[in-house]
Amino acid sequence: MKPLSQELFARLEKQRADHLYRQLRSVDSAQGARIEMNRREFINFSSNDYLGLANHEAVKEGALKAVRDYGAGSGASRLICGSLKLHHLLEEQLAAFKGVEAALCFSTGYATALGTIPCLMASGDVIVVDKLVHASLLDGARLSGAKLRVFQHNDLGELETILQWADKTVGSEGNILLITESVFSMDGDQAPLRELVALKERYGAWLMVDEAHSAGLFGQRGSGLIEELGLVNQVEIQMGTLGKSLGSAGGYIAGSRTLVDYLINRARSFIFSTAPNPASSGAALAALKLLEKEGAERRQVVWSLAQELRRMLLPLSKESPASLIHPYLVGDEQQALCLSKTFLEAGLMVPAIRYPTVRKGQARLRITVTHGHTIKDIECLRSPLQSFSKDRIQ
Ligand SMILES: Cc1ncc(COP(=O)(O)O)c(C=O)c1O
Repeated sequence: MKPLSQELFARLEKQRADHLYRQLRSVDSAQGARIEMNRREFINFSSNDYLGLANHEAVKEGALKAVRDYGAGSGASRLICGSLKLHHLLEEQLAAFKGVEAALCFSTGYATALGTIPCLMASGDVIVVDKLVHASLLDGARLSGAKLRVFQHNDLGELETILQWADKTVGSEGNILLITESVFSMDGDQAPLRELVALKERYGAWLMVDEAHSAGLFGQRGSGLIEELGLVNQVEIQMGTLGKSLGSAGGYIAGSRTLVDYLINRARSFIFSTAPNPASSGAALAALKLLEKEGAERRQVVWSLAQELRRMLLPLSKESPASLIHPYLVGDEQQALCLSKTFLEAGLMVPAIRYPTVRKGQARLRITVTHGHTIKDIECLRSPLQSFSKDRIQ
């Protein structure tokens, strides 16, 4: 056996040779449309802080007040003595925001998926997932021990074939869970939620939808695409994160009171983990309050920025943007890194997204617009993009 560090060094060398090596960058400022690194300011096109709340005064004050009232730490898991009134308040507000009976918070979105899916499903059941769902959903599905089937991205025909098979396979004892995202994190497109609801109802499956990248941005209340499409009562399990449009950190499940009571009793990442810290719960609560007042206005700003970006990237397209995420497909990992570096040199933060976040050979730049960008900021993307592909950008 080789010494551990030697073995790991060799593995990392291989990763480096494949242009898949990853490194942390130290950001010296708060999050926003502009960030500072190494004493230089960059226009930030990589953040999920879509509505610009992570550094908003009211949201920061929510975090500070929570720390003043409840301290820095939650002290224990929710089921011991860590279930602070603040958590209960936040969950009530999240349930109202999502238009459902109840909600339950987890420390991260990742822990939400990892706790929820395995306690709902087990061997003898079937989980069906879209090929492009987030790693947390896939990992949760794998952990459950249920049979896992993957359908090509948004391919309703293939999904139906799998559901027919699953229906026969589980018989009268087992269950089927269909999992998707409403807006896909690395492609920025939407799932055909109405059609998915029709299919899951035809085959008696349950539906779990991760709204990480749509909560805050769609619907009258701004709670997500499920609300916008009027499907709140047809989606059994709504998942969300607090770390994107809500500018804080954490994850949640929204649904029926029974679902939430069940998760409190069975979800291992909820039961065996210290309760979310007061600062992030306080910040999320303040963000929800702020969105009641300013959400519609903020959404209007970011959607018009997204439209501007789309016009630049796809001048011939007449469609409106499906989300605030714009993938710029490069393919080759090394080329994507190179292009990202060109952006960085121009003062623009546009990271290269590579395997395993996306499939090998599907490397891309993931450009997100957030509240705080200007049309001039978006214009700055034009020249580095043109240097890469003259025919794609006018
Ligand atoms: C679609 C999706 N689901 C879940 C998560 C995980 O959320 P969190 O960052 O809160 O762990 C992410 C975030 O990165 C995501 O993009």
